[in-house]
Amino acid sequence: MEVPGRDEMNGLGLQERDGPAPDKSTGPARPVQLTVRNLVKTFASRQEIVQVIKDVSFTIGQGEFFTLLGPSGCGKSTTLRCIAGLERGDRAHIAVAGRVLADTDTGEFVPASDRDFGMVFQSYAIWPHMTVAQNVAFPLQANQRRQKLSRKEIAERVEEALNLVRLDQYGGRIATKLSGGQQQRLALARALVTRPDLLLLDEPLSNLDAGLRDHMRGELRAMQLRTGVTTLYVTHDQAEAFSMSDVIAVMDSGVLVQQGAPRDIYWRPKTAFVATFVGQTNLLSIMRPPVTAGSGIVSVETGIGSLLVNPASDRPIGPGDSVVIRPEDLQVTIEPPPAGRANVFRGRVRRPTFLGENIELEIEIGGELLMTRQHPRFAFGAGDEVYVELPVDRCVAVSGAAAGVGSHIRGTIGDPATPHKNAAQ
Ligand SMILES: Nc1ncnc2c1ncn2[C@@H]1O[C@H](COP(=O)(O)OP(=O)(O)O)[C@@H](O)[C@H]1O
Ligand SMILES: [Mg+2]
Repeated sequence: MEVPGRDEMNGLGLQERDGPAPDKSTGPARPVQLTVRNLVKTFASRQEIVQVIKDVSFTIGQGEFFTLLGPSGCGKSTTLRCIAGLERGDRAHIAVAGRVLADTDTGEFVPASDRDFGMVFQSYAIWPHMTVAQNVAFPLQANQRRQKLSRKEIAERVEEALNLVRLDQYGGRIATKLSGGQQQRLALARALVTRPDLLLLDEPLSNLDAGLRDHMRGELRAMQLRTGVTTLYVTHDQAEAFSMSDVIAVMDSGVLVQQGAPRDIYWRPKTAFVATFVGQTNLLSIMRPPVTAGSGIVSVETGIGSLLVNPASDRPIGPGDSVVIRPEDLQVTIEPPPAGRANVFRGRVRRPTFLGENIELEIEIGGELLMTRQHPRFAFGAGDEVYVELPVDRCVAVSGAAAGVGSHIRGTIGDPATPHKNAAQ
């Protein structure tokens, strides 16, 4: 059996390349393009009044690709529709490039038709009886009241927009003769042709089949970088959010729970909800109030023993909160790691699953199950006794426990329905 030594693993470059250091890829701060402040929205049904947006505030920098990510029903589309002017917030201050579009204190409200936005929704309704070029020209013609353009200017703008989405060869074609992906690009061209201040995209890829969706992510991001258009993207799909965004804002039940660069969201989640909503994760329940261990590190008691961890939450953590560690961050070896390493435990491999690109292991440590993915050439077998290191800088103490999350969480052995026996202690 081939088993990694620690130095070998470091030699594979597995250590720090994409570590949890703050994400620097967003570069210097950009001027603010969109401001949303204190957005509150309620809907009244027959029985009750439901507040679906609960005081949401955020800003988007110029040229930024900003994604609202959250489960279905958390309020993403409602937020976007308030920004577009299709809904009025009960309370809101919304401004784009310094121009106030809605302010419930002053009563200002600019109607949707007078906001210079491009929009693409899930059902991207193209006009079937028109050609591709006519579809793209339509918003400019409808806009003549506000911006008078000559025929020549319209033709130039249409050509520019079709070029941007690589449909320049298709201007004369009837729109319904395009493939699904091409129709999606047409919808984008139509949204871009007015050179909008802001592009609003609400799950625009979710009607495409999986392969095309992956492809369109790359196309969409490339288009956004080419034009530099400030983009607000709404999705429940973490892969879309991670692959395209400069900034991700995670929403849960009408609240914006965490905002940051993709790597920060992934490696420095603040709550168990964020940790489990983006990617697979191990969650260990914290059993007692933590003890300070110096340099911002705390020691917490968990089901596998005491762990040195980084508190990520702004509020104090304690019983009822959890430690997060990503499956790929566990270091598993047969040989003991060098003396003096923290967070090292003995464990037993329960279920190795060879997946080609990696090997997935469930490892039992003190009655808890941790899930990990390791390099596939390391042939661990069921029953192997191993050392497991949970590197301190990869262990994050977050608010909350794993309430209501799916089967991707591994917890205590024995009862899959109650994977977190320690949560209530
Ligand atoms: N026009 C409406 N009337 C009543 N309830 C609505 C309306 N629009 C949305 N909702 C409710 O508001 C909540 C948020 O919806 P939505 O913003 O569409 O969520 P998401 O886009 O994140 O899936 C949901 O519970 C939804 O049922
Ligand atoms: Mg929606």
